[in-house]
Amino acid sequence: MKALFNPFVVLFKKEVYTIKDYFVTKNYDKKFNIITSGASKKGEGEGKLKDGVKYTPTSYLTLKEVFDYLDLKEDNILLDLGCGKGRVSFFGFSYGIKKAIGVDINQSFIDICNVNLKNCLLENKDNIKFLGIDASDYKLSDENVVFMFNPFGWKTLKKVLANIKESLKNNPRKLNIIYKNPIHRLLFDLDNNWKVIKENSEYVIFQNII
Ligand SMILES: C[S@@+](CC[C@H](N)C(=O)[O-])C[C@H]1O[C@@H](n2cnc3c(N)ncnc32)[C@H](O)[C@@H]1O
Repeated sequence: MKALFNPFVVLFKKEVYTIKDYFVTKNYDKKFNIITSGASKKGEGEGKLKDGVKYTPTSYLTLKEVFDYLDLKEDNILLDLGCGKGRVSFFGFSYGIKKAIGVDINQSFIDICNVNLKNCLLENKDNIKFLGIDASDYKLSDENVVFMFNPFGWKTLKKVLANIKESLKNNPRKLNIIYKNPIHRLLFDLDNNWKVIKENSEYVIFQNII
């Protein structure tokens, strides 16, 4: 609430932005020719959410910090579990990565992602895909960067984590998981297959111990 009275903060489409973030968001959405701002409208996808969390996009400033840190490049395959309107996939893809996949339980968001995909000005955009399924039903194969902005509760996260580990058993590789607003991070912290490679008050990045 305090943030709303801060002169450097603006309220736009039900989201609280710093002035800088507001303009950065507008710039990137414009540059890619997509629309990813705006939190869930009332009733949007609520019936399907199970233990899930409604859509709010991650700030482009945070995405830039994280993807610069991980030094995303052509050998990366990015998976955004709970992708909403697709911002993470589009922005990640702009680093020249091999492939970006976004998964959301809410088909109406996938429809928005596909409109964004059609309009988007990025090259090789055939390598961006969106799927309207429950994240716990997604079977990984060669993805090596997974993004989650606190999309669901521990029950779904537990299944997702089991799928990730199964995939690492079948196809051993280095994998980084960016967990923003990591409410259920204990599932990783208590599992000795993961180490923390970066953390701050906003997110933690786990990497599998090979
Ligand atoms: C906080 S938003 C994050 C959006 C996007 N990843 C970002 O960071 O900009 C969480 C998203 O997770 C989706 N979600 C919730 N439960 C899910 C589930 N079980 N499987 C897939 N997506 C889910 C919601 O529909 C919502 O769009």
